[in-house]
Amino acid sequence: MKRETTRITPEQIAAQMDYCMKVHAMNAALGRTPLAMVDTYGCQQNEADSERLRGYLSEMGYGFTDDEHAADLVLVNTCAIREHAEQRVLGNVGALTHTKRANPNQIICLCGCMAQEPHVAQKIKASYRQVDVLFGPHALWRFPELLWRFRATGKRVFENTDEAGSIAEGIPVVRQGTVKAWVSIMYGCNNFCTYCIVPYVRGRERSRRPEVVLEEIRGLVEEGYKDITLLGQNVNSYGKDLEEGVNFAQLLKKAAGIPGDFLLRFMTSHPKDASQELFDVMAASEKIAPCFHLPFQAGSDRVLRAMNRVYDRAGYLDKVRRLRETVPGVVITSDVIVGFPGETQAEFEETMSLIEEVRFDALFTFIYSPRVGTPAAGMPDPMPREEKLKNFQRLVERQDQISEEKHAAYIGKTVRCLVDGRDEKGLTARTGGNRLVHLEGEDAFIGRFVPVRITGSNKWSLFGELA
Ligand code: 5AD
Ligand code: SF4
Repeated sequence: MKRETTRITPEQIAAQMDYCMKVHAMNAALGRTPLAMVDTYGCQQNEADSERLRGYLSEMGYGFTDDEHAADLVLVNTCAIREHAEQRVLGNVGALTHTKRANPNQIICLCGCMAQEPHVAQKIKASYRQVDVLFGPHALWRFPELLWRFRATGKRVFENTDEAGSIAEGIPVVRQGTVKAWVSIMYGCNNFCTYCIVPYVRGRERSRRPEVVLEEIRGLVEEGYKDITLLGQNVNSYGKDLEEGVNFAQLLKKAAGIPGDFLLRFMTSHPKDASQELFDVMAASEKIAPCFHLPFQAGSDRVLRAMNRVYDRAGYLDKVRRLRETVPGVVITSDVIVGFPGETQAEFEETMSLIEEVRFDALFTFIYSPRVGTPAAGMPDPMPREEKLKNFQRLVERQDQISEEKHAAYIGKTVRCLVDGRDEKGLTARTGGNRLVHLEGEDAFIGRFVPVRITGSNKWSLFGELA
């Protein structure tokens, strides 16, 4: 297995653009614009990957549709983080047998984290004959070549060799929104939390060069994007693999120095290296959103050790205290896992007490899901599922109350919000802390920062009016 990060050269990307032209020529022969549907599961990293896949598809002459029946090509970008995510994907890919029966020329591609897992690739090969092309995250930059190979030969293409991972610059991008944008600053993860599949499917940590990241942000600001999220599995490790000697706090500071009216966000941060330097940079710039996603995963030191999280409860609480001291009013959100193998009832109570102590603004709660090939999947797991479910429900209910109380505290205040779109209830906007706000108004406000007077709230969101 290759264990070194490679940088894909401009010549290699140019070769992929040549494959785009070859597929483009095949598509031109159809006499109409063929349509592609890109179906994305999972995290924002996947959303960002899909923007690059759309970029390639567009170069190949595809238009886009949300209707799988109308699609000439369906590309499913998958997530492997939990069993539930995988079951949803398999169910939906299963259902594509019907669309393909109606349209035998339909091409079905499956990519993303699930495709990288050897047992999943085998299953797809044997039992999901409708899938024509499968490739993992490491092969994303070669998508045009893989699609061309299938179209030229009619033979199924499977590409999910394991590797440390690469960095490819210069892949075309078709972005989904006009207000919010994602910028991946690094890929992969070195932490090997014992429950997590990510390091196995996305490879080792590797950072994009600071000048290309800053150039991309500058371009987005010029195009009018207002809400830019820097992405990485653990952004605080940014730069450790580079010679430039730029760490994440310094990159963020430079990004915040770019002229223009915009907000910067970032995720995700591992508590072990969320630094005071980073908190200080946040406090010093109005362009950095006062919000911090800091997963704690468990409240018990024994469970944290078994998870290989490398910090303890006291250390976590200390980070939160320093963050709040440095960035007053910061919105803190987190991830937590209920029912890690061997977690006792008393240990779960420590998770409950941690959420009381911190009072997160919002919490993403997960029931432990065993992942093939991870150390935790082999650990004894005596607690029955019903008990885990009961604990899970208790946790969710308590957090809902806390979120509701936190949201109620906004009522009567006027906060600066970015209007980012419209849903069935009216305009949607986000506070700096990324709380959802519903308000009435015209579409002309979309993409603008406006003062909003908060008039109501519930556990999920705020309601307000233009002030
Ligand atoms: N089971 C349950 N939750 C998990 N997460 C990651 N792996 C698993 C798993 N095997 C959760 C963690 C992580 C979030 C993205 O997903 O809380 O922070
Ligand atoms: Fe998974 Fe842990 Fe890496 Fe996050 S830090 S992606 S939970 S291994």
